[in-house]
Amino acid sequence: MKPLIVANWKCNPTTLKEAKLLFSRVKKAGGIICPPFVYLSVLRANGAQDCFWEEKGAFTGEISPLMLKNLGVKYVIIGHSERRKYFKETNEIIEKKLKAALKAGLKPILCIDKMSQIPKNTKGLIIAYEPLFAIGTGQACSIQKAKRMRTAIKRAAGITVPVLYGGSVNAQNAGEYVKLAGFQGLLVGGASLKPREFIDIIKNVCYG
Ligand code: 13P
Repeated sequence: MKPLIVANWKCNPTTLKEAKLLFSRVKKAGGIICPPFVYLSVLRANGAQDCFWEEKGAFTGEISPLMLKNLGVKYVIIGHSERRKYFKETNEIIEKKLKAALKAGLKPILCIDKMSQIPKNTKGLIIAYEPLFAIGTGQACSIQKAKRMRTAIKRAAGITVPVLYGGSVNAQNAGEYVKLAGFQGLLVGGASLKPREFIDIIKNVCYG
C-alpha cells in the first residue's frame, strides 16, 4: 500500500483565497487534504476534519457524513484530540461518528493517543497515533516509542488496520516514521500549511 499522507489544516486559513492558493500548490502531490468544511466544495478536497453521527435532520450547525460523501469526500478524521479536548468528544460519541461515517461509505481516520481509545470493532478504520505531547509542540515522538505504539495498536486493532503517525511531523523526520517505525502514513498539522514542506514530506516518504 502506498503511504497515506494526510494534511489536517485544522482551523486554517481564514480566507478562501488563501485556501485556494494553498490547495493549488499541494493537490498534485497526492496527499489527502482535509480543509475546514467551508472550503470543501470549492476545492473539491478528498478529506474532512470531522462529521456528525446522523445523516440529516434537525441538528443545527452539524455536517453529516452523507453530505461529505455526496460532495466527493473520501476520508474523514474522527476523534482528533482537539475535538476530545475542546468539544468534549468521548469515546462513545466518537464511536457513533465512526459508525455513521462507515455507513456513508467514507474512510474514517480515528485519532488516538492511548490504547483505551481503540474501539472493539475496527473494521474499515484507519488509526492515527497522535501522542498529545507531540501535537503542535515541535517535540515529535521518538522513533522507538512510536514503533512500540504502532506494534501495540496493530496487536489490539488487527494487523490489517493501517496505522499512521501524527505529531510535529516535518520534512526531516517524516521518512523515519514510515521507513524505520513501519507506519503506513502520516497525519500532518502545521507543516501541511507550508506547501514546499508538505510536498517534501510526500517526496521523502513516497519516493525518498
Ligand atoms: P502538528 O503536525 O502541527 O503537530 O499537528 C498534528 C496533528 O494534530 C495532526 O492531526
